[in-house]
Amino acid sequence: MRVDWKGQLVQIRELGQGPAVVLVHGYPLDGAMWSGVARTLSGRFRVLKPDLPGRGENPAPPDGTIDGYADFLQAILAEVPPPAGLAGFSMGGYVSLALMKRGTAGVRALALVDTRAGADDEAGRAARETAIATVRSGGAAAIADGMIPRLLAPASAQNASLVERLRRIIVRQKPETIESDLTAMRDRPDSTAFLPRIGVPSIVLAGDQDVITPPAEGQAMAAAIPGARFAAIPASGHLTPMERPGSVAAALGDFFAAALLPNAAQ
Ligand code: MLT
Repeated sequence: MRVDWKGQLVQIRELGQGPAVVLVHGYPLDGAMWSGVARTLSGRFRVLKPDLPGRGENPAPPDGTIDGYADFLQAILAEVPPPAGLAGFSMGGYVSLALMKRGTAGVRALALVDTRAGADDEAGRAARETAIATVRSGGAAAIADGMIPRLLAPASAQNASLVERLRRIIVRQKPETIESDLTAMRDRPDSTAFLPRIGVPSIVLAGDQDVITPPAEGQAMAAAIPGARFAAIPASGHLTPMERPGSVAAALGDFFAAALLPNAAQ
């Protein structure tokens, strides 16, 4: 599918047929982080895995705000028939919450994956400044060196092919895009008060060894969203969709089927 975005036609990678499910990637990544999950989900859904502005298929310069990324997501959702599902991983979860605050734009099911509703605290904001200095001096490779051990559970970090795929995704990102992500996350608003107003079926997933957005954060989010369920992804750090694509696809597939497919077994 192609979306008109700031005067350019942006290609959105998609696979499968059925109700649309949009998978939103995290930092400092692109839509490829969802590939394993997308392949499985595509048996039942039309899966879209866009690159947020400034990377991959979407060269439009990003504006350093979560709302700017949500604008792009909104442009995609305007082109797909409802009902649609939305899954946001980490920074993609921040973007998904920003979009949901505007009204659901056809979104009838929401999955929040290894993410949080709160804003950065003072230490978090300082860490963003440090990362901005790192990407300015050392580029994407320096960010990869720092992020990979934090993204993966210790056992996953021993998986050479996973680490190699992950590094390849990070090092292809432009330094200015990484800086935009960092600025956007640093300045994002607190969405905690919005959670009780989410009016669509929701699920929250988190890796049981996630050190970036620990499972307790996910449990608290699920408790605050009416009717939401929390599921831990076993043997995984933060990057559940790449570390445990089978478990994530199973959880998302059952959830989106119940919400979006009229004849699915409930
Ligand atoms: C992400 O995985 O998107 C980021 O690490 C989230 C964050 O740093 O807040």
